[in-house]
Amino acid sequence: MVLEMIILRKIISIVLITIFVLLAAINSPAIAEPVTDLDHGAALFKANCAGCHANGGNIVRRGRNLKLKTLHKNKVDTQAAIAAIVTNGKNNMSAYQDKLTTQEIADVSAYVLRQAELNWK
Ligand code: HEC
Repeated sequence: MVLEMIILRKIISIVLITIFVLLAAINSPAIAEPVTDLDHGAALFKANCAGCHANGGNIVRRGRNLKLKTLHKNKVDTQAAIAAIVTNGKNNMSAYQDKLTTQEIADVSAYVLRQAELNWK
């Protein structure tokens, strides 16, 4: 009887530990999206991008704006694709790899994608 109790307790604690480890894994940022700071992204956008892309437009090349439909069409509709353009630049848009850190580029790219999804409202 005592032995059975001990075994039962062991089983329960193993089950609880397993659940805990699984929950920790699900919540871990390594598995979720990379952590980005949208407020910081908004400030970076205002300082670096709004001159040409105010309200998600493009005053230099209108067809290359930041509206969701356009981003889909031009296949720039992921955070990584936006970050690639910001990092390396494209035609009349200059590169930001010497001006912004990788983290800042991730933040501003996440902000652009979020704003596009909100239709820049
Ligand atoms: C000097 C004006 C200017 C500034 C400042 C600028 N861009 Fe651009 N951006 C452009 C132009 C021009 C294009 C079109 C490039 C091409 O495809 O010819 C563009 C294209 C883009 C695209 C692709 C849009 C599409 O529909 O294909 C993204 C995303 C983008 N810019 C994001 C940014 C972000 C984020 C910043 C700030 C870090 C920024 N841009 C700063 C001029 C600018």
